[in-house]
Amino acid sequence: MPMKDLSAATRQFIDLEEKYGAHNYHPLPVVLSRGKGCYVWDVNGKRYFDFLSAYSAVNQGHCHPKIVSALKEQAERLCLTSRAFYNDTLGPYEKFIHDYFGYDKVLPMNSGAEAVETALKLTRKWGYLKKGIPEAEALIVACEGNFHGRTISIVSVSTDPEARADYGPYTPGFEVIPYNDPDALASVLEKKANSIAGFLVEPIQGEAGVNVPDDGYLKKCYDLCKRHNVLFIADEVQTGIARTGRKLCCDHEGIRPDIVILGKAISGGVLPVSAVLADDEIMLTIQPGQHGSTFGGFPLACKVATAALKVVEEEKLTEKAERLGQIFRGEVKKIESPFIRQVRGKGLLNAVVIEPHNGKEAWDVCLKMAENGLLAKPTHHHIIRFAPPLVITEEELREAVAIIKESLKSLETV
Ligand SMILES: Cc1ncc(COP(=O)(O)O)c(C=O)c1O
Repeated sequence: MPMKDLSAATRQFIDLEEKYGAHNYHPLPVVLSRGKGCYVWDVNGKRYFDFLSAYSAVNQGHCHPKIVSALKEQAERLCLTSRAFYNDTLGPYEKFIHDYFGYDKVLPMNSGAEAVETALKLTRKWGYLKKGIPEAEALIVACEGNFHGRTISIVSVSTDPEARADYGPYTPGFEVIPYNDPDALASVLEKKANSIAGFLVEPIQGEAGVNVPDDGYLKKCYDLCKRHNVLFIADEVQTGIARTGRKLCCDHEGIRPDIVILGKAISGGVLPVSAVLADDEIMLTIQPGQHGSTFGGFPLACKVATAALKVVEEEKLTEKAERLGQIFRGEVKKIESPFIRQVRGKGLLNAVVIEPHNGKEAWDVCLKMAENGLLAKPTHHHIIRFAPPLVITEEELREAVAIIKESLKSLETV
């Protein structure tokens, strides 16, 4: 899809963004205007499979009728009260989340990054008030290749130069160790356990290119944290809510993190909703006035997130992600193509590592797939993530794999 071939309508919207919007993204040249289930349509009426799902926010599919209807109903009653007053949606939502995930309490926020920030603050509070770390000495361990969002503190712990450069001075108090290396965690804990409050980890590193750690990694890290009285904090913003074939990705290893961070699909991609889950011993270290957000847990969010999580159960999306994920990886591995170096993933969070060939790389593959009716986006230049809405059917998934195959094939000789 060379830029010169774009329709006038497409160009018009791209030009507006280019002229009046900050240049902090590099989108594929497709202008979307409608979505339903696993499909989106562009301004020319062309239909695509959405294999990004807004970075795994749209697990329940675009414009799910039950979620949209919850939104509309509540929008006509009460949208926002702030937390200066009680309202009749937050308490029921909090109980619902408690029953759904099995944690004593939830702290509601909006974006994923805010929820990560909340977890970092909570971890430090716990470190000082419960573990007895001396003032201003608390450390949090994170992993190389992480992606936890875009705030100053979060990019302070990033190892991606693009995310981090020129945003200093950086927030102190982090130790960064290699991912998928329990010995590295053991070593830092041996040396500094008395100052370490928490270990922050993505159960699969999504933005880094769907880096799936070895089986047993999370459990080993969890056990090490327990041994050293350190909180195990799972950032499940991308991996949570059925995406990897379990309610939470940590469920694959049967561990229960001390703090769970959720975002994206908790609202089915309908509103920015995020949440931090923890038990009382941790959560109640934050007292009135010590943290919050005007919109955090607002009535619309409460109703939308409740509806979105119910859809996950009603439509058995967890089981579906597990089963369709196996089929997806199996089928893509069968494709014989010089472009495919590796296929990896869990559930419906998958990636193909692309070997440049014939002067073409991951970006060209994504353009060709878009031309053929499937949207996906490269991450780190040579990896393409494939993460469709979990409502996709097996038939649709097989159709999508055929598009991937055809696109790779047609680039071999161009
Ligand atoms: C694991 C993880 N944590 C946090 C975030 C940040 O979420 P948000 O973009 O909603 O701030 C993301 C976003 O991609 C993510 O993948």
